[in-house]
Amino acid sequence: MIIKNKIAVVIGARPQFIKHAPVELALRKYFEVISIHTGQHYDAKMSDIFFNQLNIATPQYMLNIGSHMHGRQTAIMLEKIEEILQSEMPVALLVYGDTNSTLAGALAASKLNLPVIHVEAGLRSFNKTMPEEINRILTDHVAELLFAPSVVAIDNLSNENIMKNVYNVGDVMCDSLQLALKYNRKQVNKIEPYFLCTLHRPYNTDDITRLIRILDELNRAIEKVIFPVHPRTMHILEKNGVKTSRFINIEFIEPVSYFDLIDLQQNAQCIITDSGGIQKEAYMLKKKCITLRTETEWVETLKDGWNTLVFDELEEIHAIIDAEPGEYIEKLYGDGQAAEKIAQIVDELFN
Ligand code: UD1
Repeated sequence: MIIKNKIAVVIGARPQFIKHAPVELALRKYFEVISIHTGQHYDAKMSDIFFNQLNIATPQYMLNIGSHMHGRQTAIMLEKIEEILQSEMPVALLVYGDTNSTLAGALAASKLNLPVIHVEAGLRSFNKTMPEEINRILTDHVAELLFAPSVVAIDNLSNENIMKNVYNVGDVMCDSLQLALKYNRKQVNKIEPYFLCTLHRPYNTDDITRLIRILDELNRAIEKVIFPVHPRTMHILEKNGVKTSRFINIEFIEPVSYFDLIDLQQNAQCIITDSGGIQKEAYMLKKKCITLRTETEWVETLKDGWNTLVFDELEEIHAIIDAEPGEYIEKLYGDGQAAEKIAQIVDELFN
């Protein structure tokens, strides 16, 4: 039997399960993959459902860390990941994106002098009040091998003097989307037109006055709004005694699986979100998107009206919904082969 080198991978939040699915598949050809699930997301609808649908192997380590203040959450992860890395002795540790799980993994490995591989490197919002911005800057600066999804990301890294072992392989979420479109035969049975909304960023949810302003605006939209609610957003509404029934134009539903969200996006007239991944998916699915933020890391999507940023002037969403987007660029985020390219480069460098 051939003994393969080990690559450890840290995952923990919903978008990381989606990114991991194609990468795990590709890496397994060359390595034994040791996956560590921090438990940052733990509700079945935020975690298990993605593993089942995307056929991801059960993680070797389930840390069950759950929700805490960011510092404490990251610290507990760091301590536990370090122990695992010491006992498993992988040749490198791979992390995705910008969550607290990403940073904890990157720090744990770098303190053991273990090479860090960062998938989705080089993204910047230039807004350091976002926890994600700190997480990705620090991760990029300790990483030894960086996989960027776009030219803009490569430029951002080069502006911070990170030029060695940087590769533009395209976006792994493009690979995931292709998997979903291939495997997902079910179509959400929605005949009436609707808009789709998702919201979970602290600056849209933690201030209840702002959250209500957003919901009031969606309540005035010309079509019904379907809103799969992230647990963080639901907890805030409940804590403040806000009844969802007062927004009659909005259908509040539980978080949905990856395949169902892709279906909901494909059939929506327009998508309103503050998620990073959904801005890209909307573009890949040729859907117009409104992003409720002051900036985005995915600046390519803003061209020709496919994605529009709205923050203070929420009433503008109605006119934007009506406007027709312009030219569409095919394969803006790659050809769906990012995971295979990543696995081949990792193989060359670490085997
Ligand atoms: C995290 C990431 C964010 C990513 C998002 C995707 C950080 C700093 N943020 O945000 O970048 O876009 O995941 O969804 O890492 N909760 C539950 N059940 C769960 C998970 C969360 O009830 O399974 C609730 C808890 O009240 C928790 C809150 O959601 O305190 C926020 O969860 P947390 O993991 O801190 O951040 P997200 O908002 O999910």
